[in-house]
Amino acid sequence: MTGPVLAVDQGTSGTKALVICPDRGVIGSATAPVRPRHLPGGRVEADPRELLDSVVGAGRRALAAAGEPVVAVGLSNQGETVLAWDPATGEPLTDAIVWQDRRSTGVCAELAPHADRLREVTGLPLDPYFAAPKMAWIRRNLTREGVVTTSDAWLVHRLTGEFVTDAATAGRTQLLDLDRAAWSPEALEVYGLSGERLPRIVDAAGPVGTTSAFGPGVPLTGLLVDQQAALLAQGATAPGDAKCTYGTGAFLLAQTGDRPRRGGSGLVACVAWRLAGRTAYCLDGQVYTAASAVRWLTDLGVIGGAADLDPVGSSVPDAGGVTFVPALAGLAAPWWRGDARGSVTGLGLDTTAGHLVRALCEGIAAQVVELAGAATTDLGAPLATLRVDGGLTRSALLMQTQADLLQLPVEVASSPDATALGAGALARLGLDPLLPLGDVVPRWRPSAVYEPRVSAAEAAERMDAFRAAVAALPERTP
Ligand code: G3P
Repeated sequence: MTGPVLAVDQGTSGTKALVICPDRGVIGSATAPVRPRHLPGGRVEADPRELLDSVVGAGRRALAAAGEPVVAVGLSNQGETVLAWDPATGEPLTDAIVWQDRRSTGVCAELAPHADRLREVTGLPLDPYFAAPKMAWIRRNLTREGVVTTSDAWLVHRLTGEFVTDAATAGRTQLLDLDRAAWSPEALEVYGLSGERLPRIVDAAGPVGTTSAFGPGVPLTGLLVDQQAALLAQGATAPGDAKCTYGTGAFLLAQTGDRPRRGGSGLVACVAWRLAGRTAYCLDGQVYTAASAVRWLTDLGVIGGAADLDPVGSSVPDAGGVTFVPALAGLAAPWWRGDARGSVTGLGLDTTAGHLVRALCEGIAAQVVELAGAATTDLGAPLATLRVDGGLTRSALLMQTQADLLQLPVEVASSPDATALGAGALARLGLDPLLPLGDVVPRWRPSAVYEPRVSAAEAAERMDAFRAAVAALPERTP
């Protein structure tokens, strides 16, 4: 079928919808904001109805803009955001606990004796970021009613009545046997979740059900967690291909082919996608706060928003000796310091907003450098370039800082909406699973390439300053 598809990327801070035509590209688009609540104690919650309304609202407005019906829908999701809901009525029983939420730190501390075995089975370290600790927390503290799942399973149920999740999203729970890409009875038992009714694990492309939300009986044929959808859209289909998406957080993923690679450098081994029953794997590293750190600076009144990064940062030539570790929701790979809080050091009476902005860009970019280094070690080969996408790639300051600290060219995707494009590619593939991947994935054409402009010695010096600041973060008991 050659008609347009609707691709919906349901993210942490908003939902993006694109209507994509095979020959004319994007013919309609819309966004809907999502406002997660940032609460004391590292809690981050979202209203599930707002998530659903944003999917339906953005989708319908993108369709209205396109002025054409679609032949299929693809949906990408946040990954580790969890809620309990009633499968009979579809009504939420709890708020959505967002992936950045730290409230299940105690669950993880209690399960520490099982950490190595859980990592062996699922590829993931014990950390409140993943879905299972949050699921266990909900069961212990909020409700034993209904089902407790990642947000995709609920959204798909509301749209189609089906009870499914894709293999890569299932892999974000710490309940998936990574080698078999099937629920692990052992991990479920460790978490006290053995009796749970879990969604059926499906391929990322294929008919899931039909929805009337976007026209009469439109099939949902693409489903994938957002970072992996961006990996696909960036054409990272061969082992060693890597990308970084700068959204609410920043996530560096490197394709490892048809076998999971459990590296020793702190990255997560996980499912990239399952297509036609065949599972592809990747390595994944996370920066928990990228755009959310920019939002934090904005809320403090230091800048007016992300569009200010470049003008304000360009008002000074460097960070003026300020080092910012933006661990505002803890540190993930390769440190796994869930207890960490952010730090800003080197302040003086002469420190300006420009210095803080530059220090923040360095803090985000330096974490990505650490992730790229870990990927290089685990892959056994250096990355040649880094492909990037996401809203923050609009900041030339951040991208140049990234190239400088990484000492590699940074290639910016021509669309910041790679995640939605990935969901759209899967929707198309789901209509015709025999299509070669290369036929549905947009050809990689960067819109800009940032080359490093500083010497390796200067990059190393700046990285050393960042590493020293991370090492100085005090340990905190949960
Ligand atoms: O793991 C969480 C991540 O996938 C969320 O992505 O785009 O909302 O930052 P984003």
